[in-house]
Amino acid sequence: MAHPHAMPSPVALPGVSKIVAVGSGKGGVGKTTVAVNLAIALSKLGQRVGLMDADVYGPNVPLMMGSSQPPKVGAGNIIEPNLTHGLKTISIGYISPGDKPMVMRGPMLHQIIRQFLQQVNWGELDYLIVDLPPGTGDVAISLVQTVPLTGAIVVSTPSDVSLEDARKALEMFAQVNVEVLGIVENMSHFTCPHCHHEIDIFSRGGAERTAKQFNVPFLGAIELVPAIREGGDRGLPVALAGPKSPQAAAFYAIAERVMEQAEKAAAAATDVIEIK
Ligand SMILES: Nc1ncnc2c1ncn2[C@@H]1O[C@H](COP(=O)(O)OP(=O)(O)OP(=O)(O)O)[C@@H](O)[C@H]1O
Ligand SMILES: [Mg+2]
Repeated sequence: MAHPHAMPSPVALPGVSKIVAVGSGKGGVGKTTVAVNLAIALSKLGQRVGLMDADVYGPNVPLMMGSSQPPKVGAGNIIEPNLTHGLKTISIGYISPGDKPMVMRGPMLHQIIRQFLQQVNWGELDYLIVDLPPGTGDVAISLVQTVPLTGAIVVSTPSDVSLEDARKALEMFAQVNVEVLGIVENMSHFTCPHCHHEIDIFSRGGAERTAKQFNVPFLGAIELVPAIREGGDRGLPVALAGPKSPQAAAFYAIAERVMEQAEKAAAAATDVIEIK
């Protein structure tokens, strides 16, 4: 008999080639900003992309994507994702909009994560990007119990406080056997618009050092730029401007590296299955 607390085996989503989670230990470091802009960049680079908002208590994808319409539910309770900026997206914010918080316990949260994965009509996707809530809690566990992840991206600012929490996220992904595709340093530095002097507000370079320490790839650094915040607040993420836009270029460079790492991880996973 199976152990009552044994992890259920994750099952791949038919038609979805790679699933990549974006997480961090700490809140407010830019996970959603990275997830949204990365998803748009991947899509502009020719990939078929879905974006799942797994931050059930604090969903920010609707605001940042500028999408709010409630999804249609079809036969067999299949949920149609919203199509926004060329991406298929789902968020609890589409179902329960406004400022009313979702008050729920773990089992219901697990159910929502499962539904968002299995009951949404994702169709054929090259990438499903999953925006995780802060911390190392229930949602990440529900996710890895439900589907095999291609890998995870850890976002951190370069400050010691953020990196301390990023290390916890790295440790968590290791514990649940999820490969870390790399670390992104967000709010790396700020360039003064007047004198063009670069100011290391959060102490630039820390995330790259942490990546080396943990022997995981460093995916790139994103500057602290007002346009990134404005794009998020207006539902028009900077990545929409394309790879030539100075504010968006870093997200495209990161998207290219994510593709490289995800291809490698996916190929390695197939090898393991074949050997078995
Ligand atoms: N590189 C950046 N430059 C300027 N503003 C940024 C940058 N990255 C993120 N922000 C802003 O910082 C705030 C927090 O970012 P975001 O919501 O993406 O973080 P988060 O890690 O997803 O937060 P939470 O833990 O609450 O989910 C947002 O207002 C966002 O627009
Ligand atoms: Mg977020």
